[in-house]
Amino acid sequence: CGIVGYVGSQSALEVVMAGLKRLEYRGYDSAGVAVLADGGLAAAKRAGKLVNLEKELVDRPLPTGSTGIGHTRWATHGGPTDANAHPHLDNAGRVAVVHNGIIENFALLRAELAERGHELSSDTDTEVVAHLLAEEFSGCADLAEAMRLVCRRLEGAFTLVAVHADEPDVVVGARRNSPLVVGVGEGEAFLASDVAAFIAHTRSAIELGQDQVVELRRDGVTVTGFDGQPAEVRPYNVDWDAEAAEKGGYDYFMLKEIAEQPKAVADTLLGRIDAAGNLTLDEVRISAAELREMDKVVIVACGTAFHSGLIAKYAIEHWTRIPCEVELASEFRYRDPILDAQTLVIAISQSGETMDTLMALRHAREQGAKVLAICNTNGSTIPRESDAVLYTHAGPEVAVASTKAFLTQLVACYLVALYLGQVRGTKWGDEIRAVIRDLSRIGGAVERVLETMEPVRALARSLAGKDTVLFLGRHVGYPVALEGALKLKELAYMHAEGFAAGELKHGPIALIEEDLPVVVVVPSPRGRSLLHDKIVSNIQEIRARGARTIVIAEEGDEAVEAYADHLIRIPVTPTLLQPLVATVPLQVFACELATARGNEVDQPRNLAKSVTVE
Ligand code: G6P
Repeated sequence: CGIVGYVGSQSALEVVMAGLKRLEYRGYDSAGVAVLADGGLAAAKRAGKLVNLEKELVDRPLPTGSTGIGHTRWATHGGPTDANAHPHLDNAGRVAVVHNGIIENFALLRAELAERGHELSSDTDTEVVAHLLAEEFSGCADLAEAMRLVCRRLEGAFTLVAVHADEPDVVVGARRNSPLVVGVGEGEAFLASDVAAFIAHTRSAIELGQDQVVELRRDGVTVTGFDGQPAEVRPYNVDWDAEAAEKGGYDYFMLKEIAEQPKAVADTLLGRIDAAGNLTLDEVRISAAELREMDKVVIVACGTAFHSGLIAKYAIEHWTRIPCEVELASEFRYRDPILDAQTLVIAISQSGETMDTLMALRHAREQGAKVLAICNTNGSTIPRESDAVLYTHAGPEVAVASTKAFLTQLVACYLVALYLGQVRGTKWGDEIRAVIRDLSRIGGAVERVLETMEPVRALARSLAGKDTVLFLGRHVGYPVALEGALKLKELAYMHAEGFAAGELKHGPIALIEEDLPVVVVVPSPRGRSLLHDKIVSNIQEIRARGARTIVIAEEGDEAVEAYADHLIRIPVTPTLLQPLVATVPLQVFACELATARGNEVDQPRNLAKSVTVE
């Protein structure tokens, strides 16, 4: 969910609505706002996207005030209805609260409130907080104190922001787990789940820590623990500008972000390769001596980031000879994984807030493992709780389906693999130096792919009526196939599956029927030609059974020509780096197919970009 709070001298409603627009990627099941004005509190909320709330505000305008809060929701408890939308109010309509996360003991609290005569009108866990705040406020007349008292009674993960009509120039926030950032302006202050909500106003930010409560007033910000003790705050300067969070002439954020990939991968490499062609990852605060001691690497991540981890495994094991496991973060801690001080855990996350990944890394650190985060969001929770972080520097990614974050996660993974190889010394020293050279030129190769995408778009449009598309790959092409299928599911809502090409004959080949589109990612014919020849045989096998083959192959690879119904060329790239160029046509393909089917590209149904519940 996305949360915004404001106190200052501007119209709170305008600031909050503009902030919510920037946060809509975090959830768009419903939206709502509350403002304090004329000694009272006024609220509006609507199921569905933010436009529904905008219409509501035109039909029934709220009074103008300079203190307000807002919310855009990804439903957990209770369906996406008007009643379940945030903010939630107490019975007297004096307190309004918005919430991100899950309050686990809400049923008990709700029963207690009902016993004390409160009438609850929604199915949400959030409403209990509004009622509890009203009760506590009547005792202490201090919203921050009331919030601290309430938070001590809540279980689960939650971020809360509240206002009270009796404290008209105050916004209070509380954080446990899901993110909350303070923006400090001149005579005004902001609260949001992501700096994108306020960078148009200020770049001065404070990230709240775990179990902290913040009180926002025009002239300052006070942070305490849930226990009331003053907390140390660490202000930082946001280096993203407001423009980076705009569409910049593209129809969708996703198209803009696909187009930004050559620059994004270059930015990930920036300052990390020295003049002698060696890697300098100074920010990896795990010493070379410690890295030499590591006997296992474990990668944890979700969704698209998990696919980058699958590819990283090939690179890490090849260049370092350290065994590497890759696991879905949501599965990781439940199987009691074997971890110790010689285990390097790599947590990959664009947002740095994914709860499954956060819980996995906490578990790893509790077992004594060292955690390195690969992350795109400065100051977010996952890097803060890790031993070291390598930022991807892709700039803000707004479209729910990840593109440039994925490519830069791959680059960061290669950097880690090469760096491990470099500090540990391996027989692949020459190859490592050559790959570092190739990596530094990879932005140009991605650019060339982007220049040749028109036929891919035309092909995608022609397949808009299909029900199923399959994706095949071998070696690093296998995770690329998984990622291509995930993109199509997310955006086009089609049945799409990725398979290891060699596994096809063990079951999935039964799915092949006349004219079924099958995308095949073909490895380079150079070097590992055995791999290449095997996949060419696989293409023949499916074609013989009627499949329509869409082949992604390197320039100059003639062997595939006879069996490709559609041929998509990608630049010649070392095998391990091929995913950086092979994924791009699949992103374009999914985006265009989704558009052709009339789907919303940036905000696919049921999804959210940053999932802060487990
Ligand atoms: C959500 C998004 C996915 C993303 C995954 C992991 O499910 O919809 O696109 O890959 O979270 O996100 P992260 O921010 O941890 O990379």
